[in-house]
Amino acid sequence: MADIYTDAEDERTIVEVLLHGLGTPRAPKLRVLRIALARSLQIPTPPANELDGSSLGGSEYALERITGAGQSADEEGRRDYDLAVRAMLSIYHGEDMFHGEESDRRYRRCLQRHIRRGLQEIRTTWRPGHDFHGFLYHELFAAATTKPVRFDLAQEIIAGLREIGVSAQIRGVENGPRISRYRVYLDDVNHYDKVKRGLDKLGLHLGLSTRQGILLQEDDGRGREARVLALDVPRPAESWHTIPGARLREWATENRDVPTLTVWPGVDVLGEPIHFDVAASPHLLVGGTTGSGKSVCLHALLLSLLWRLEPTDLQLTLIDPKRVELAQYAPFPQVTGGQVIEDVGDALEALQDLVDEMERRTLLLRQQEVANLAEGRAQGRIELPYVVVVVEELADLLFQSREAEAPLVRLTQKARAVGIHLILATQRPDSETFSGLLRSNVPGRIALSVRTGAESRIILDETGAEKLLGAGDMLLRPQAGAGTRRAHGVRVGSDDIRLCLQRFRGNRP
Ligand SMILES: Nc1ncnc2c1ncn2[C@@H]1O[C@H](COP(=O)(O)OP(=O)(O)OP(=O)(O)O)[C@@H](O)[C@H]1O
Ligand SMILES: [Mg+2]
Repeated sequence: MADIYTDAEDERTIVEVLLHGLGTPRAPKLRVLRIALARSLQIPTPPANELDGSSLGGSEYALERITGAGQSADEEGRRDYDLAVRAMLSIYHGEDMFHGEESDRRYRRCLQRHIRRGLQEIRTTWRPGHDFHGFLYHELFAAATTKPVRFDLAQEIIAGLREIGVSAQIRGVENGPRISRYRVYLDDVNHYDKVKRGLDKLGLHLGLSTRQGILLQEDDGRGREARVLALDVPRPAESWHTIPGARLREWATENRDVPTLTVWPGVDVLGEPIHFDVAASPHLLVGGTTGSGKSVCLHALLLSLLWRLEPTDLQLTLIDPKRVELAQYAPFPQVTGGQVIEDVGDALEALQDLVDEMERRTLLLRQQEVANLAEGRAQGRIELPYVVVVVEELADLLFQSREAEAPLVRLTQKARAVGIHLILATQRPDSETFSGLLRSNVPGRIALSVRTGAESRIILDETGAEKLLGAGDMLLRPQAGAGTRRAHGVRVGSDDIRLCLQRFRGNRP
């Protein structure tokens, strides 16, 4: 009887997880298959039929290798888990998978679909080089727990403050998704500077690494005169709450009365949603080290738009030289060229076309005597969509084609009024990637965690991002002159993206 088949891409994923993820290249592949099964079972909708069958370059696994069917227990911990797996799938699919040949066939088929979907999920959310154990923790456990965890450090904070020579009282605590904010009342108003200088010491006292900083918020806006402070203390990862993609959907679909290009990247430290208007930015840089959550952040920005807007409102130009992240958006009916641009030569051409488009639009605006696209659309004089250009890895693009910088700079200088906005992501925040003219014309900044204060300064013009907690923790300054805010990103997964894009099925012009 047919067993479980994978395809060539699945096999590559399995090998990469064993090699780079678990660091056990020789371990049995079934380890990965079981993780994939667990991941898929977390998704509430059943996996697609397309995952059936076998394909060239794939592999075949006997059921006994996956569930231990028919095996007797041995010292190495191998056992027959088949009944347990069968029971899980029966419950998940609401069918009897125990009795008869047909139900057995069905069981194997469902098992294959789940395993292959789980492998796909791993592929889209984890990359070799990222921390796989952290990934597992977040994907399999953290996302599943939403119970608030009590975490109260008040006494230790008082003691830690005393150690740096500050006498104070705690007047309250609020628990956000990852941070607890303690309101501290200073007995002596002149101790503000001592607190500020002593934050690292205080962190050490609380058992935090110097990387995970305590941030000081001036509560009553009086700066060094302040008597009431707020200390944002990061909590251990076990107590974090993930912000699921479903929240983003609610925000985007329930808030109709906001500017067209409003996006919701995440929540503030106390859990309140944050939003801003990309058109006001008017161009954004998203920077952070590998695995910090840039792509997930880009997905949140894109889904904010795609949950609300129609293809008549929005055109997307998607440039992804790494060829990994953006392919999922190809079904959106208004993707420039009908597909994600992966080739650097094509990207250059697309950017030059956009410069031409910008000139055409500028002329049109002048003819219609409107100041910008928003005004033209509001008055019914112009029907053109906004254009959002996403570059998934700016460094890769510029490294392979320095000429791409010129049209990028032109667009950042002039495209604002005509409704063309750039979102540039990079894992290499250095002056070569994000230099001079580009830098001064891209005022919107999102910094995910980085290694050094210098990298933080490249992205934000200030330090701080080196203290972030990773996994979508960010500092946000959507516009020049706006204050920098801390946010925890929405965890958008490929199932959220698929669900959203179902809106556009059959909508292709
Ligand atoms: N908002 C979030 N909430 C929880 N976990 C997150 C969040 N954002 C990212 N993560 C975790 O971090 C992992 C890496 O995220 P992502 O792929 O976006 O990183 P990246 O910065 O794009 O990395 P690279 O530079 O290698 O492309 C995700 O797979 C996920 O496990
Ligand atoms: Mg990425």
